[in-house]
Amino acid sequence: ALITLRQLLDHAADHSYGVPAFNVNNMEQVHSIMEAADKADSPVIMQASAGARKYAGASFLRYLFDAAVQQWPHIPIVMHQDHGASAAVCLRSIQLGFTSVMMDGSLLEDMKTPSDYDYNVDVTRRVAEMAHAGGVSVEGELGCLGSLESGLAGEEDGSGAVGKLTREQLLTDPDQAADFVTKTQADALAIAIGTSHGAYKFTRPPTGETLAIDRVKEIHARIPNTHLVMHGSSSVPQEWLEVINTYGGDMGSTYGVPVEEIAEGIRHGVRKVNIDTDLRMASTGAIRKFLAENPAEFDPRKFLTASTKAMKEICQARFEAFGCAGQA
Ligand code: G3H
Ligand code: 13P
Ligand code: NA
Ligand code: ZN
Repeated sequence: ALITLRQLLDHAADHSYGVPAFNVNNMEQVHSIMEAADKADSPVIMQASAGARKYAGASFLRYLFDAAVQQWPHIPIVMHQDHGASAAVCLRSIQLGFTSVMMDGSLLEDMKTPSDYDYNVDVTRRVAEMAHAGGVSVEGELGCLGSLESGLAGEEDGSGAVGKLTREQLLTDPDQAADFVTKTQADALAIAIGTSHGAYKFTRPPTGETLAIDRVKEIHARIPNTHLVMHGSSSVPQEWLEVINTYGGDMGSTYGVPVEEIAEGIRHGVRKVNIDTDLRMASTGAIRKFLAENPAEFDPRKFLTASTKAMKEICQARFEAFGCAGQA
């Protein structure tokens, strides 16, 4: 059944667990997440970005979600819009039947330029007013996602399009977070604690210096009724990196957020954990390996089955590690 983000994360807070929010773009991703959730007896957050809507088309996305709800009626599903660039984008998702939307007002509508605080408050407040009127949940974002290792912010490929920032600029301020949720009434808040989007987060395994888990505690203490969200939470599985690089790929060497660090975040108030890159890597690795080992094969169902299986294993591992297995 479809439920809202607020409903799911309230339950998660009551029972001290976190929920992975997986990005979906196609049927295979939906299958892998749902099959894993069914096996683990876990609730699900599936989220679609603007890029996903462009890739699949709004109707295909909507009916992919609907198909999951029909095929697995016993699994609670949140249909969430990831990184909305404007109130208009959020409204369109609400019309499509999403039960939760993210208004990312930390950036201007170009999704590149960091916004000022007043803009962020204003646009997020307007979206929350509209969404709540329709029973839809809202996630906001405060702070600039970026690496505490490099000081670079704002790019998926590690190039740091936003530029070089100081440690303080790269961390969400707890006082400002309190003011933000009072003014906007957001149900969930994405915070910056040293994670960044994409596969190139860290050049070596992160330590307590590179990930500010302490900041999660400080923010949670100030806004205990707002659910904290960690973006950029892929772990960049070293085994899939190796498979990709072995079978014709060239991703170099890179590290993500260790699952144990995320579990620590969940112990201190993180409830939603955004993961996209890990499923991309598992899918690409599995397909590269399958095609290399089966050069005569040309039925896409064969390599897509390998892709689904690889993604499903990651999903299941995250459901177990974040404590949401058994909570459906
Ligand atoms: O935050 C970004 C997500 O990984 C979605 O990526 O915009 O390429 O779909 P995308
Ligand atoms: P990753 O790139 O670490 O998977 O993060 C995804 C994300 O935050 C989507 O909003
Ligand atoms: Na989001
Ligand atoms: Zn994100």
